[in-house]
Amino acid sequence: TYVVTEACIKCKYMDCVEVCPVDCFYEGENMLVINPDECIDCGVCEPECPPAAIVPDTEKGIEKWLELNRNLAGQWPNITRKGEAPADAEAHKGEQGKFEKYFS
Ligand code: SF4
Ligand code: F3S
Repeated sequence: TYVVTEACIKCKYMDCVEVCPVDCFYEGENMLVINPDECIDCGVCEPECPPAAIVPDTEKGIEKWLELNRNLAGQWPNITRKGEAPADAEAHKGEQGKFEKYFS
């Protein structure tokens, strides 16, 4: 499966949802997550994300994010259409420590 990681927080460009063939993205206020049980591992979303927030779960140290994606996908609504990215998305691109700063 692929998972959404910290770089999505406050950026939320949503280009990813447009290409997912199985519509397995879920939307929170500050970021999206993937439902790992629905993702078919096609990989097409990975290059679509401007801040490169989407990574395969084979990546080192991904466990925390995999669990977060799985948990939140069960709580957040499904999203299938790209909406408008936050006005300050560019300002938060590449910012460090976003999980601690903005994620509640
Ligand atoms: Fe959807 Fe494919 Fe990305 Fe999984 S890897 S979230 S199936 S686009
Ligand atoms: Fe987030 Fe990238 Fe999608 S910033 S909303 S994972 S395109």
